[in-house]
Amino acid sequence: MRSLISPSFALILCLAAPLLVHAVPRSGVDKQSFGKTADGVSVDLYTLTNKHGAKVKIITYGARVVSIEVRDRAGKLGDVALGYDDVLGYEKDSSYLGPIVGRYGNRIAKGRFTLDGQTYTLATNNNGNHLHGGLRGFDKVVWTGKGSVVAGAARLRLTYLSKDQEEGYPGNLSVTVIYTWTDRNELKIEYSAQTDKPTVLNLTNHAYFNLAGAGVGDILNHEMRINALRFTPTDATSIPTGELRNVKGTPLDFTSAQLVGARIEEKYEQLISGAGYDHNFVLNKLSGKLGLAAEVYESTSGRMMRVYTTEPGVQFYSGNFLNGAIGKQGLAYPRRSGFCLETQHYPDSPNKPGFPSTVLRPGGRYTQTTIYQFSVRKGRYRER
Ligand code: GLA
Repeated sequence: MRSLISPSFALILCLAAPLLVHAVPRSGVDKQSFGKTADGVSVDLYTLTNKHGAKVKIITYGARVVSIEVRDRAGKLGDVALGYDDVLGYEKDSSYLGPIVGRYGNRIAKGRFTLDGQTYTLATNNNGNHLHGGLRGFDKVVWTGKGSVVAGAARLRLTYLSKDQEEGYPGNLSVTVIYTWTDRNELKIEYSAQTDKPTVLNLTNHAYFNLAGAGVGDILNHEMRINALRFTPTDATSIPTGELRNVKGTPLDFTSAQLVGARIEEKYEQLISGAGYDHNFVLNKLSGKLGLAAEVYESTSGRMMRVYTTEPGVQFYSGNFLNGAIGKQGLAYPRRSGFCLETQHYPDSPNKPGFPSTVLRPGGRYTQTTIYQFSVRKGRYRER
């Protein structure tokens, strides 16, 4: 039978085959040193790669996402997560770039709550309120990491034991966070925790995104859609009043895609007190069920990000307090150069009996799953 390919072409194919194999990225996890903390504790950097060559880098200090390299419309990889080049950058960070936040992500009014008749006092590190777990929250401790590849996807398991009374919270709390980077360009974060005394818990991830590229401009031209008909308005110190307010007729209506910058300077009292968007949205879905929280599109790169979560709320924070700190590759992160979508229970739930409970008891198990899914879209999102 006559061969379909000539002998010389076959020879070229044979010689090039090893190179081709090399050029196709394989899913995997790579571990390197990221240096040491000021106290001399070693920090590791894990690189999770998927079959498209897209990468997520995570360090054990604060379980922080350091970078997310995903393709744009032209197929070019670009980093869409804000971060720093070294441990010192993260130790000095006051904006919470990329970490797991806990024990209580977001605020607890006046740093006090009562559980089973006992009152607990926490650090008041934000306008007289408790924010993001206190002075040394989960973002500032070194976690234990273990990389693996499970069902073809790169995965990093991080664990941390928070001792009874750490930052004033009751109970020894053992926390596990699993980051999985799939071939569908999904960064899946699975949280679980158990305690030996009743406590409160509200874990989230505080990654800042800029889909045009970290450090190359503001996020005001991103188109945002949030799957929420209501939000939790706050007082002047960002503590929810307890009301669940309809977004309709307000600049917080993202039920259809809106440019982040279109209404951010409106003289709406909630935007004035929050210095922009810094609000918890009440998701249109059942708590505990994985469902859409938000989708964001950036038209110059064509990048799109969808966020799915089992949590009942998401904090949309438009980076209002970013202050120009120098991040990766010497690039500055000025005000509104990144945004966060922090999937969570509502702020101040320990003091708001009407909000879904954040209490965890011995024998119970805290779980939450959130997925940040990246893709590209041709043309403008609104013309879909
Ligand atoms: C959260 C808060 C903001 C701000 C940032 C960190 O998103 O809601 O008010 O504190 O963290 O700068």
